[in-house]
Amino acid sequence: MHTENPRVVFKERPGTGIPVPGEHVVFERSHSIDLDGVPLNGGFLTKTLMLSPEPFMRERMRDLCIPSYSTHAVLGDPLVSFGLVVVLRSEKEGINPGDHLYGLTPWEVYTVQPYIHGRSKYDPAEAPDYTYDVDALELQIVPDPKGAFPWSRYFSVLGAPGLTAFCGFEGCADAKAGETIYVSSGASAVGSVVIQLAKAKGLKVIASAGADSKVEYMRALGADVAFNYKTTPIVEVLREHGPLDIYWDNVGGKTVEAAIEYSRVHARLIMCGCISEYAIGPEERYGIKNTGLIFKKRLRVEGFLAPELAPRLAPRFYAEMPVLVAEGKITAKEHITEGLENGPAAMAAVLKEGGNEAAGKPVILVATE
Ligand SMILES: NC(=O)c1ccc[n+]([C@@H]2O[C@H](COP(=O)([O-])OP(=O)(O)OC[C@H]3O[C@@H](n4cnc5c(N)ncnc54)[C@H](OP(=O)(O)O)[C@@H]3O)[C@@H](O)[C@H]2O)c1
Repeated sequence: MHTENPRVVFKERPGTGIPVPGEHVVFERSHSIDLDGVPLNGGFLTKTLMLSPEPFMRERMRDLCIPSYSTHAVLGDPLVSFGLVVVLRSEKEGINPGDHLYGLTPWEVYTVQPYIHGRSKYDPAEAPDYTYDVDALELQIVPDPKGAFPWSRYFSVLGAPGLTAFCGFEGCADAKAGETIYVSSGASAVGSVVIQLAKAKGLKVIASAGADSKVEYMRALGADVAFNYKTTPIVEVLREHGPLDIYWDNVGGKTVEAAIEYSRVHARLIMCGCISEYAIGPEERYGIKNTGLIFKKRLRVEGFLAPELAPRLAPRFYAEMPVLVAEGKITAKEHITEGLENGPAAMAAVLKEGGNEAAGKPVILVATE
């Protein structure tokens, strides 16, 4: 018997701009699957429970001629992001029905795993060495912590955003008590964890976001100075509350320029992402005018990718973070959108300045078990 298998398909490259639901990313109900009979070929069949709309999905939709750190998304395939799935059937040793797994997975309800992401297996001979092989990330079994955390927490502080914040902060920041850090996009999934890690280490935290509701959220997370960059100029805040010892960049562009201007000598700039550039063409990128100060102030500018630092830092993350969360020393909030059909709009919202005003990591609830 065939069961409907809804999905969200990457239909058309957006060029510049935010992907338009129904045009570039489309919810479809036309596929079906035989849940009892579909061949597993040594793999396993999963049902998707939750999915995570993420900025890197837009980066993968870029035009084919634009290089970046990740492989391209493939037209006609479902979108791919981090997700939580439950195993229905398995032919793979060590994976059993009822197991919950977290990792990169396609935006469809039922999937025979391992899914060949984007059908574009990474070929190191052809791709430049900065290409990040999305295909290589496998689903990992989520240890059930006896109901200690809701599953959605694996999308925020206990999942990829938490790991990213931990890797960048512990691996690049050299943070010392009493120093001052500025976190842009401080209400984002990554930024909200950085704020808390910095406070736990005794830093003064300045944080910005594009909505007043998020300013309240950042204050609740412990930020000493929280502001809405749409209504308060960044330079004014940094002039008053700087200089900075550390800048955590989630956005790129003119925010980096402001951070360079108000950095102390020997400050560290940790380049985690540049979301203001994901939906624009190369010619529209903001030209930073004060790069000379990098030399004059001997600033250290360091980009990082969590998967590169994870082999060294993930064991500490998985040992320390669940304890801190269980003790309430690090908190998280998720903003749940119900239904895969609402996935395209949730994805687009991530890419808007001040988007997702409810604050908290956006999560799409596809199904409950
Ligand atoms: N280096 C790594 O390994 C790694 C891993 C994961 C994520 N990242 C990066 O970390 C950053 C945060 O990711 P996330 O998953 O935490 O994000 P998220 O929770 O999805 O939040 C995204 C937020 O970015 C802000 N934003 C969107 N468009 C913007 C624009 N044009 N200009 C300025 N801000 C804009 C919006 O908040 P406000 O405008 O209200 O601030 C939006 O809510 C992104 O740059 C992402 O690419 C890096």
